[in-house]
Amino acid sequence: MREALEKIGGEARAAIARAGTSADLAAIDRRLFGEGGEISTLLRGIGKVPKEERPAFGAAANRLKKELEEVIAARRAALVSVEVEAEMRGEGFDPTLPGTRFVAGGLHPITTVRRELEDLFTSMGFDILDGPEVELERFNFDALNIPPHHPARDVFDTFWCESIGLLLRTHTSPVQVRAMERLKPPIRVLAPGRCFRHEDVDASHEHTFHQAEGLVVDRGISVAHMIGTMQALLRGIFRRDLEVRLRPGYFPFVEPGFELDARCPFCDGAGCAVCKRKGWVEILPCGLVHPNVLRAGGIDPDVYSGFAFGLGLSRLVMLRYGIDDIRWFMSGDLRFLRQF
Ligand code: DAH
Repeated sequence: MREALEKIGGEARAAIARAGTSADLAAIDRRLFGEGGEISTLLRGIGKVPKEERPAFGAAANRLKKELEEVIAARRAALVSVEVEAEMRGEGFDPTLPGTRFVAGGLHPITTVRRELEDLFTSMGFDILDGPEVELERFNFDALNIPPHHPARDVFDTFWCESIGLLLRTHTSPVQVRAMERLKPPIRVLAPGRCFRHEDVDASHEHTFHQAEGLVVDRGISVAHMIGTMQALLRGIFRRDLEVRLRPGYFPFVEPGFELDARCPFCDGAGCAVCKRKGWVEILPCGLVHPNVLRAGGIDPDVYSGFAFGLGLSRLVMLRYGIDDIRWFMSGDLRFLRQF
């Protein structure tokens, strides 16, 4: 038995000294200490040694185990430092190679367009904000100049939560007030996100959809700033200038309020199925922030003014890619998703 110990020890010491890389060393470590490894087997076999020899043999085997562990650790440290130095010198290591792709997948088209919008608005000095999807009634309605019995509440088919005062936000507009409460003018923010309404679901209505809210508050902000920003947005998404027109629109949180239409990017105004033969597409409700909303956000309307818009992000993505049914977005259907 003693000879067996000496033999294993001698061979192991020689192998460790010969190991040229940390990977070689790891293989030796496994051969000695891994499951069914030489040392592991030796230690497990102590019970079979005659009783009188057992204490001496056990002590010797444990000594060998400890010694080999130390020799391996020392050799590993030496090899790793040589390897790291070689890597740093550039041998066998090219820092310009692309990383490993662990996941095969793609981005949802809404994510792609959202990120493009975020880049575009960041380049214009906007901050990107997030807001809660479960929102307080106060932010979704009251602070937006929609008090409890205002008829405008009816047009937002609201999912109310059981506890009083909580709801699933019906639009991204509550982030306007949250932004004003947190930030001081000048404020420039874009807040994309999910919204919810209990709509009758059809090709253009979904219970869960995406919007992107924009808000600018500063001294002397006018409709001209708003139109310029909206044109930049459309140019960024459709990669060319689209003619725009303003029509009056009513939203309690803006005064004046507008529907900003763009020339249909598919037919250039000639009339097609996408624009329902109108030649214009309606995608950007907007307006100058109502003084009551500025006040609700703690901003003095005699000093500051602002504009806001509520881009229908889902609708914009449909226009951009020619998607004819909003229900595809939440379907999780790979036949749809793989096309992007
Ligand atoms: N929140 C409105 C909606 O979902 C859209 C909207 C209209 C947002 C005008 C705005 C705005 O910021 O100025 O119907």
